[in-house]
Amino acid sequence: MKIVSIVGTRPNFMKIAPLINEFKKRKIKHILVHTGQHYDKQMSRLFFEELNLPKPDVNLGIGSGSRMEQIEKMAAEIGKVLKKENPDLVVVVGDVNSTFAGALAAKHLGIKVAHVESGLRSFDMEMPEEINRILTDGISSFLFTTEESAMKNLINERIPKERIFFVGNVMIDTLLQHKKSALKSKILKSLNLKKNGYCVLTLHRPSNVDTKEGLEKIMLILEKIQNKIKIIFPMHPRTRKNIESFGLNNKISSMKNLIITEPLGYLDFLCLMSNSRFVLTDSGGIQEETTVLGIPCITMRNSTERPVTVSQGTNLLVSTNSKKIIGKSLGIISSKKSIKNKIPKLWDGKSAERIVKIMKNVC
Ligand code: UD1
Repeated sequence: MKIVSIVGTRPNFMKIAPLINEFKKRKIKHILVHTGQHYDKQMSRLFFEELNLPKPDVNLGIGSGSRMEQIEKMAAEIGKVLKKENPDLVVVVGDVNSTFAGALAAKHLGIKVAHVESGLRSFDMEMPEEINRILTDGISSFLFTTEESAMKNLINERIPKERIFFVGNVMIDTLLQHKKSALKSKILKSLNLKKNGYCVLTLHRPSNVDTKEGLEKIMLILEKIQNKIKIIFPMHPRTRKNIESFGLNNKISSMKNLIITEPLGYLDFLCLMSNSRFVLTDSGGIQEETTVLGIPCITMRNSTERPVTVSQGTNLLVSTNSKKIIGKSLGIISSKKSIKNKIPKLWDGKSAERIVKIMKNVC
């Protein structure tokens, strides 16, 4: 059996790592293609090193560009690799442009596609990821889901049941595997932080950072929160570029308790989240990671494609309403209680094992 998997962005690397380990264990021939969507050392190479990922067999070097340019170029170049390799199966993970480009290239060549982290829906078609999710699921042969809502979504979209497999969450496989070593990170010491004495912020959704008004609104929120607690903000390249181009650097640097860092590696970031009072984010995966870590997560979005993190986990979906974000943050800071959480079903560190067993049976 021969598998080609496609990755491109930071969250893809955490999702493919446990699958690659399983391919190795079961002696499956595997070719790793990196589209190059993320290319900075801090966004890509560092993750390969920390997660012990093999060097990609092919790196297409297609970073930057508009969404359409990225997808078109990636699909064309992935197509060339697939023609040469002629695998039995193409594996794509998550919901980024590289995910959809990989699925599209494979489908056009008549190669079966397995989508890992299938069926999640925010029902917000303004999100590029939502479009990627729907399109990828529509052309995948095997759909591996992380939570029960995803099964329901796929069935509602008339995807035949026999193609859908509820297997749990590969990103949580990676978290559970690395948590112990992450806790040895020196990041708290190097940023002069105490356990529970700070919150972590991540921000990169186009809906939050692609307009000056959006960013200014968030800065007003941060201003209030940093009066009460230190905020550690590993800044995503998209956000950094926009803050610079909108001339908002001075505003950011005027906040004394807002500490900006480069994007952090996997282990440092996991350590930082694990010891924080709470996390403030617009990310997808962080809602899941905080749920497993039992750390409160305030999600600055109007919708989530990961509802189990709200119903069972630590996720508080607050929209981008300033009052709500500030209110929830101050509430957590002043409360002594820890938040109750339940680990979602099958988020047990064995998802990749389940997936690869199924792949071997169906291919
Ligand atoms: C992408 C994903 C998003 C995911 C995020 C994780 C899509 C549609 N979006 O968003 O779902 O949550 O990754 O981080 O696929 N850039 C750099 N260096 C890098 C990477 C990007 O400078 O290493 C710059 C690019 O040149 C571009 C901007 O950041 O100008 C955005 O990058 P892009 O890959 O298009 O999307 P992300 O915002 O990273």
